[in-house]
Amino acid sequence: MTEMTRTARINPSILNCDFMRIGEELDRIATADAVHVDVMDDHFVPNLTFGTDMVAQIVQRAGIPIDAHLMIADADRTAPAYAEAGAASVTFHAEAAAAPIRLARELRSKGAKAGIALRPATGVEPLLDVLGEFDMLLIMTVEPGFGGQSFLESMLPKIRRARAAVSAEDLSLSIQVDGGVSRETIERCAEAGADVFVAGSAIYKAPDAAAEIDALRTLAAAHVHTRYARAVTFVTCSGVGGNPSRRS
Ligand code: DX5
Ligand code: ZN
Repeated sequence: MTEMTRTARINPSILNCDFMRIGEELDRIATADAVHVDVMDDHFVPNLTFGTDMVAQIVQRAGIPIDAHLMIADADRTAPAYAEAGAASVTFHAEAAAAPIRLARELRSKGAKAGIALRPATGVEPLLDVLGEFDMLLIMTVEPGFGGQSFLESMLPKIRRARAAVSAEDLSLSIQVDGGVSRETIERCAEAGADVFVAGSAIYKAPDAAAEIDALRTLAAAHVHTRYARAVTFVTCSGVGGNPSRRS
């Protein structure tokens, strides 16, 4: 088997950055893999943040992709506008979507990657047969709504079960964790199977955000699961005298 990728992606959340200086706050995380933008509607969660116009401006200003995390109700109706606003990935909550597969297909048709998120008390099992419809699975490691909360250790088995399913089916789906991710918790998340890490306070409270991104990426990379190419199988084709042909 051949090692294909070994990556740990760090997506800082701007939820707790200084909104009066948002351009400079985006510059501080220019070495990150994406900007995680938490969209909240004061309904699905008890907090209110950005809308589509703000996301479109962040898309224009940031030099890296936008990873939009929608904590908003009625995702079937509200999510596509964030793909139109230019977010590279749009993640909606399973609890807020009536037809998640149709919605994921619509987001992909608009050029965005499609992610599906689970609150801590939502199991991953109902999604296991449809994971191929999504580019990313976000496993919340705090109750969504606020930054600065404590990491929920009880989410680690869910991450492991999700990773086992992704590996068993040889899917390219990413597994993202969000909430309480820091130097203290990131290795456990990576070991369990996450490969995309959202960190808000850990990065924005650090004196040097770029150094913190580096440190988190290094810690995670030592544990992040490696994807392997399927074993190359040689088969003998009839009529070609035993010449091997490749089948993956
Ligand atoms: C919480 C948000 C998170 C939050 C993470 O609902 O989805 O992205 O900003 O913040 P920390 O890393 O401080 O837990
Ligand atoms: Zn988030």
